[in-house]
Amino acid sequence: MSARGGEPTILVVDFGAQYAQLIARRVREAHVRSQIVPWSITPAEVRRLDPIGLILSGGPASVYSDDAYTIDPGILDLGVPTLGICYGHQLIAQTLGGSVAHTPDGEYGKTRFETVGDSVLLKGLPTEQQVWMSHGDQVVSVPQGFRAVGRSPGAEVAAMEDPERGLYGVQFHPEVVHTPRGAEILKRFLHEVCGATPSWTSHSIIETQVVSIRDQVGEGRVICGLSGGVDSAVAAALVHEAVGDQLTCIFVDHGLLRAGEAEQVEETFESVFAIDLIHVKAEDRFLEKLTGVIDPEEKRRVIGEIFIRVFEEAASTVGDARFLVQGTLYPDVIESGSSSAATIKTHHNVGGLPEDMTLELVEPLRDLFKDEVRAIGEELGLPEEIVWRQPFPGPGLAVRIIGEVTRERLDTLRAADTIISEEIRRAGLYREVWQAFGVLPGIKTVGVQGDGRTYAYPLVVRAVTSEDAMTADWARLPHELLERISSRVINEVPAINRVAYDISSKPPATIEWE
Ligand code: XMP
Repeated sequence: MSARGGEPTILVVDFGAQYAQLIARRVREAHVRSQIVPWSITPAEVRRLDPIGLILSGGPASVYSDDAYTIDPGILDLGVPTLGICYGHQLIAQTLGGSVAHTPDGEYGKTRFETVGDSVLLKGLPTEQQVWMSHGDQVVSVPQGFRAVGRSPGAEVAAMEDPERGLYGVQFHPEVVHTPRGAEILKRFLHEVCGATPSWTSHSIIETQVVSIRDQVGEGRVICGLSGGVDSAVAAALVHEAVGDQLTCIFVDHGLLRAGEAEQVEETFESVFAIDLIHVKAEDRFLEKLTGVIDPEEKRRVIGEIFIRVFEEAASTVGDARFLVQGTLYPDVIESGSSSAATIKTHHNVGGLPEDMTLELVEPLRDLFKDEVRAIGEELGLPEEIVWRQPFPGPGLAVRIIGEVTRERLDTLRAADTIISEEIRRAGLYREVWQAFGVLPGIKTVGVQGDGRTYAYPLVVRAVTSEDAMTADWARLPHELLERISSRVINEVPAINRVAYDISSKPPATIEWE
């Protein structure tokens, strides 16, 4: 049986350093299912997963170093079409009797690549093209049965193939954007070599998930916590598509959300999707417990604790609930080839749920990358505001108010945050910027407005670009945009008389201020 419900799958063998995730995403962008597996996978396991092809990723090591990740040679004898990329290319050469050596002229960055002779993999592509390389070793002789089909200034065998056995290798990285024809090369491998059809689409993902959710849940009752973010929203919409009225959503509104968010959740799930929704308005409870709390970690602890209690109370009214939906994504569950590519998970997942709840988890997004989650959210008819919402911390505005969280300060920050968000959207930058928001420091500054002196809060505007929140850079927002935000905030939010822009990157700063 194939890796998942018969969906033809490419296995991406992970040799570390996060190359595998990018390759897996590129394969999915070509509408073919991919699954990341660790380098230690055995031939028996590959046979069990029954892939239509294998891609061996790049990696940080040298194939001939003592602690290098290797591959069981039996995997290359299975008759499964295989493409090695960078380290994977060298590994195929070394495993099958070719040789790899350190090259005095390592290539890092954009490189000129030239196809040599006829090639199955590179057919139809220009003889010369730009590729992106990152290697200090190179294949110096190809294994028996292979032919070198490409070279670069620093690699005599920059591409090789043995079409009889379905084995291919490229020294460059076709998965990165700096190899402009890279996606085409990957597609040639997928379609021409592996015989894949573009069957992995939002529509097919939804169909497959609906069947598997129904199988898991049967007639049981299901509950799902909504946060207002895209992951829980899409998970809920999918489960609803599968089991309709068996689903009850619980939305714990801690009063620390941005303007309009709670209303949007209610409107979308209750009115549009007609999902049974328990909306717990618990602002008072949260604010009461936050009185006098200043330390950021203490805020998180307090919010997390009440959150769980409120959620449990609401869940207990659902009676015979047996299943709990979670919006876990694929990057959270990938079994990585090395600790260097270890899973990235938010440190303190407020909105996380009680550990001792005896509910079986339903995780319909476990197999998906964020962009796929967004695509199926759109396909399921969720509004653009939810599908494309920027990440928002579980403890909400509480960690953007430095010092004590009070109703008055929440209202102030919320009003300012709405303006930032409106202006970023109006400038067409909302999707480009990872997060853009306001922070309200616990100080006041002097200003002058009309005839009088003011003594009011400053607002800090924070906008960052990022791929995964692990690192981030401050966004180079146009000055005119910053000016519009500043003048609107100062004119429209009476409690603020000054606006500053945070120009720190992460590291050493973090994205949030607390
Ligand atoms: P930092 O501030 O650590 O944030 O650079 C990285 C990402 O995590 C989000 N964040 C949180 N998310 N609970 C969450 O669910 C939290 O307590 C929390 N703190 C930070 C932050 O918005 C950014 O996207």
